[in-house]
Amino acid sequence: MSQIDLFTPVRVGAFELPNRIAMAPMTRSRAGEGNAPTPLMAEYYAQRASAGLIISEATQVNDTAQGYPSTPGVHTNTQAAGWRRVTEAVHAKGGRIFVQLWHVGRISHPIFQPNGAPPVAPSAIAAAGELYTGEGMKPFPVPRALETAEIPGLVRDFAEAAKRAVYDAGFDGVEIHGANGYLIDQFLRDGTNKRTDAYGGSIENRARFLLEIVEATVAAIGADRVGVRLSPNGTFNDMRDSDPVALFTHVAKALSTFNLAYLHVIEGIDGPMTLPAGAPAVASQLRAAFKGTFIINGGYYTRAAADAVLAKGEADLVSIGIPFIANPDLPARLKLGAPLAEGDKASFYGGTEKGYTDYPALETVDA
Ligand code: PHB
Repeated sequence: MSQIDLFTPVRVGAFELPNRIAMAPMTRSRAGEGNAPTPLMAEYYAQRASAGLIISEATQVNDTAQGYPSTPGVHTNTQAAGWRRVTEAVHAKGGRIFVQLWHVGRISHPIFQPNGAPPVAPSAIAAAGELYTGEGMKPFPVPRALETAEIPGLVRDFAEAAKRAVYDAGFDGVEIHGANGYLIDQFLRDGTNKRTDAYGGSIENRARFLLEIVEATVAAIGADRVGVRLSPNGTFNDMRDSDPVALFTHVAKALSTFNLAYLHVIEGIDGPMTLPAGAPAVASQLRAAFKGTFIINGGYYTRAAADAVLAKGEADLVSIGIPFIANPDLPARLKLGAPLAEGDKASFYGGTEKGYTDYPALETVDA
């Protein structure tokens, strides 16, 4: 056991953080015209600037990357200008913010796609179930399998979005969203990747898309501004793999060679990412396989639980999602042992300032 706890400062990539609490990325579906961030989003993130690191909601890297209403992008100048207001507001409050870069792959619908085309994926396999489109629930469509020749363009889109995020929008760095059944995860796992080219088949081949994205993004903005998020045992979005321990251990080892800002692993229960009973605990094996800063996510919602995972050396930081919704000053509350407010679920996705920026911070006696 070490003396390290949630309030021990830590270096993450290029940054010194005052605490080890990362605000986990959370879709809130409040982007404006052209999927550009609004002034309300700047207020929301600035209210949460006492997190050691804010990781933004998942953000589209190009115009085929969207799968939910009103999620922001970072591939147009208007989107970058909107994000610039967000990052300036967070920095003015003394915080740091990375943008989470995603492409949803098959977790989309023609409604969200240019010219009403089918969404793209490694293989033409629909996810089971339905998605929320803004025009009601619809079955997931059968996606179009990407041509091998299209893959370099997608890799470039991640690197270009990272450049725009850091140099135009003012983000401190980017987190590549390799988790939760979206495009990169669809390439990683053999339940969704049946390709017969260099991007499918063996573990090495299925990891290639992620590793090419990481390499290009590191070349674009520097390794100390790049993190990666994985969900090795998640089943959200109809995901499965025949050997997640072998797959993700290979990925963690390969990621170690880049000297990244961090690896961020979802190991347990947080919002929609609830693990099935008996799911293998892969996170500890990834901690051992990855040489670098390790962020764990998994329902560590009390100070005692979060401190314990740090003291045992199972992670260097803890990311916390849902409690940040209703507790903008979550680090202060955890430090004081103050009670946490419950968020109103009806306003998690979409809407106005209600359930978004109207949760008060604690009134501090000596403030
Ligand atoms: C969601 O909007 O439900 C969502 C988005 C991104 C994730 C997970 C869930 O990684």
